[in-house]
Amino acid sequence: MSHSEQNTAESVTTQTEQGLYVNPQALTAHLPALHYRDGALHMEQVNVDELVKHYDTPCYVYSKQAILAVYQAYTESFASLPHQICYAVKANSNLAVLGILAQAGAGFDIVSRGELMRVLAAGGEASRVVFSGVGKTYSEIEYALTQGIGCFNVESISELTLINDVAKALDKSAPISLRVNPDVDAKTHPYISTGLKDNKFGIAHEDALAVYQQAANLSHIDIVGIDCHIGSQLTEVEPFVAALDKVVELVHSLRDKGIELRHIDLGGGLGVRYIDETPVSIDEFAQALLPKLTELGLTIFFEPGRSIVANAGVLLTRVDVLKPTEHKNFAIVDAAMNDLIRPALYQAEMAVIPSVLPENGLNTDDTQAWDIVGAICETGDFLAKDRLLSLATGDTLAITGAGAYGFTMSSNYNSRPRASEVMVADDRHQLIRKRETFEGLYADEMLWQDK
Ligand SMILES: Cc1ncc(COP(=O)(O)O)c(C=O)c1O
Repeated sequence: MSHSEQNTAESVTTQTEQGLYVNPQALTAHLPALHYRDGALHMEQVNVDELVKHYDTPCYVYSKQAILAVYQAYTESFASLPHQICYAVKANSNLAVLGILAQAGAGFDIVSRGELMRVLAAGGEASRVVFSGVGKTYSEIEYALTQGIGCFNVESISELTLINDVAKALDKSAPISLRVNPDVDAKTHPYISTGLKDNKFGIAHEDALAVYQQAANLSHIDIVGIDCHIGSQLTEVEPFVAALDKVVELVHSLRDKGIELRHIDLGGGLGVRYIDETPVSIDEFAQALLPKLTELGLTIFFEPGRSIVANAGVLLTRVDVLKPTEHKNFAIVDAAMNDLIRPALYQAEMAVIPSVLPENGLNTDDTQAWDIVGAICETGDFLAKDRLLSLATGDTLAITGAGAYGFTMSSNYNSRPRASEVMVADDRHQLIRKRETFEGLYADEMLWQDK
């Protein structure tokens, strides 16, 4: 096919009968970490094919500047109020990522002891950490209290009483906020929507006041805030505003009852542009929320994950096998659903672009529709479907937007060692996680002993 007439201007995508064409140059124009120089894809000043020579594939690569730029955008947009940006560790928990954010002054949002240990190992301060999650265990609470955690975001009455019990046993006072479920539709994928009545998260808005009063009567609980997180990859500001209105209403009711808070935590959830979505910018987000926040006189917390790291990262992968069939063309690459599960789990559409632009230009007639798939024994093992690309075996492809919920959701399914991770800053690159070894995959296992 010829798409010459369809790719006028710099539109990022062109949908044809055969498939979706993602224009690599137009796409990278929206991604500050990436650009093509002389036809070769670079992250910051580093040629990605040079990275492939050094580190092989599959390999996650993150741009230090891109991570810090988004973090700074948050702090600048909310500079008029006291605030704390608690980066959501689950999005990307590599120590190097946590380390640069800790150095920049970030707090952290964690959901397990493992994540707290990572934050501390990376130089973060426990007092700037909020502990979210519906199922904190006795030992996790004990560990967090001992380390001096900033706040527990409490999701149920039973958790509240457990935290009180642990704090009592340690003779400490536990700082808490209640995670309120405002019953607001985040208008995102159902698996990453968390603020509806049907979701397992938080304490129902109508019950919150009573639970706060219960908390106020517990001997070892210190009420410090209120929290809400309605979902992830939100592209509109309205659901955030609707949730904030409900939380503000509660702050006032609490004041009337003599319960004074120190902070309001609005969670994470701001969406990113993966291909051609148009999420609200951090500045627009701030402009919509600030007028309602200013009057409260509280410190504002956010827990952004995806928006800080998604577009700072790519997954580099090599085309191993081209398998055209009568109905479909499959490009089998050396990354798979175990490395990047978002397409299989959420039907997420991620851009796949070549490390080198085709010599004869972008609109070549040898472009065909390919399913980019892994070598795993599952039909759900795909990274992208029906993408118009010009491919040869040995090519390097970059899956963009892979900095968030990429490596952290990866597994060893099919006994595949997980990818290496690399960080780039200006013209420097550094390994920040070694590729796993085959021996390492079973190093903690034991053969059954008959006697
Ligand atoms: C409680 C909580 N806070 C923050 C986040 C981060 O969300 P996002 O990565 O969309 O910013 C999540 C993600 O699911 C979450 O559950």
